[in-house]
Amino acid sequence: MNRETAKVRVGRVDDIDPRGSRRLNVNGLEIALFRLSDGDILAVENRCPHKGGVLSEGMVCGPVVHCPLHDWRIDLRSGEALDPDKGCIETFETEVSADGSIYLTLTGALLGADAS
Ligand code: FES
Repeated sequence: MNRETAKVRVGRVDDIDPRGSRRLNVNGLEIALFRLSDGDILAVENRCPHKGGVLSEGMVCGPVVHCPLHDWRIDLRSGEALDPDKGCIETFETEVSADGSIYLTLTGALLGADAS
């Protein structure tokens, strides 16, 4: 199995308001970067597991985003929908460097792609 990974710089922490988000397109996959109130930066597939709502347009409470369409709650750390709903989205590893740059770890089909 191919376990190659690559880290790609995708912006700066200052580019995202606290409890806000930013959208990226990586090789055709839309990814949402969220900045939590505790400062953590998390990255998930920007598509609700229910009916495809754009999660980056949802309200963030702690580590959870509320989908703007039907209010499913998605845990941004695990990618899992919270009870009573069922579903999961992909999560991506992020890292913030000392200078505030955000790096996204890409694997599999996303390797070699540019983030925009
Ligand atoms: S599309 Fe997200 S809750 Fe329905």
